[in-house]
Amino acid sequence: MIERRKFGKTGLEVSVLGFGGAEIGYEGAPQSDVEALLNEALDAGLNVIDTAECYPDSEEKIGRAVSHRRKDYYLFTKCGHFDGRTPDWSRSSLLASIERSLKRLRTDYVDLVQLHSCGLEVLQAGEVIEALEEARQRGYTRFIGYSGDGQAALYAVECGRFDTLQISINVADQEALDLVLPKAHERQIGVIAKRPVANAAWRYGDQPPAEPYHTIYWERLRKLDYPFTKLPLGEAVAVALRFTLSQPGVHTAIVGTKKPGRWVENARALADGPLPPEMIEAIRQRWREVAGPDWVGQT
Ligand SMILES: NC(=O)c1ccc[n+]([C@@H]2O[C@H](COP(=O)([O-])OP(=O)(O)OC[C@H]3O[C@@H](n4cnc5c(N)ncnc54)[C@H](OP(=O)(O)O)[C@@H]3O)[C@@H](O)[C@H]2O)c1
Repeated sequence: MIERRKFGKTGLEVSVLGFGGAEIGYEGAPQSDVEALLNEALDAGLNVIDTAECYPDSEEKIGRAVSHRRKDYYLFTKCGHFDGRTPDWSRSSLLASIERSLKRLRTDYVDLVQLHSCGLEVLQAGEVIEALEEARQRGYTRFIGYSGDGQAALYAVECGRFDTLQISINVADQEALDLVLPKAHERQIGVIAKRPVANAAWRYGDQPPAEPYHTIYWERLRKLDYPFTKLPLGEAVAVALRFTLSQPGVHTAIVGTKKPGRWVENARALADGPLPPEMIEAIRQRWREVAGPDWVGQT
């Protein structure tokens, strides 16, 4: 059975391997694949499903695939990103977005609503946090969180109003390990590692990825040139995932996939437990040597 960790102060116990719902939306996974991959993963111990209002069709697909067994998983969504549209961070717009998410997900509550990567100034202005607090009061969500990186993530941890943080942590994105994670750990914030295998972007070799979203990690990984990326792909992904989950204060890693069988494959790879300390240190040391000042957390 997959390991579960206490999710900060929430009282939830989350599977260390979660499910990231961006890919099934952006990459147009067929409904039958989503049904197969989510149901087999839930049967094998998955209990964290993460999605967002703006991932095309992701919420609808998840709702159709697994709402009949709603008690088997914690459901996390996000609000306020408005991909490709004008950002609207007003209270009324966020609450309307959450109500829409509940309909799409075919449920009357989610376990977590996260602000989807608004900037520091928007956070500091406070209206977005009040909107989430109101959503919690209305019973739309049990907990509230921030999803994003850098100084905004640090503010979210320090302001004391969020239960959870979702942040990029992986072999090609280590800013959070020094800047944010120790403080989140100290304050018992539930931490979700997003992009936890760095999109496996080393797999593209010398060819730049067709997907621009993967380009920055691909460029970084070429410079980092970690020896483990020469391993067969499945083994290398396992090293990357174990690195992320070995960081103190990380509770769940939401690997994105549109492939039936992938969650079970990755869960099996975690049976070896945390990476040996010398491997973790080698990856940390290489990052310190190579990372430039502009290698900041990627949303
Ligand atoms: N701002 C935000 O809030 C934000 C931003 C980014 C992401 N997120 C969240 O984080 C989740 C994860 O991020 P992500 O999907 O960008 O990055 P990721 O989990 O690091 O990478 C996913 C990629 O890795 C591949 N992969 C996974 N396991 C593999 C294996 N064993 N062998 C080969 N390839 C493997 C997947 O391909 P296959 O499809 O073939 O499995 C997919 O292309 C998202 O789904 C979303 O929920 C949130």
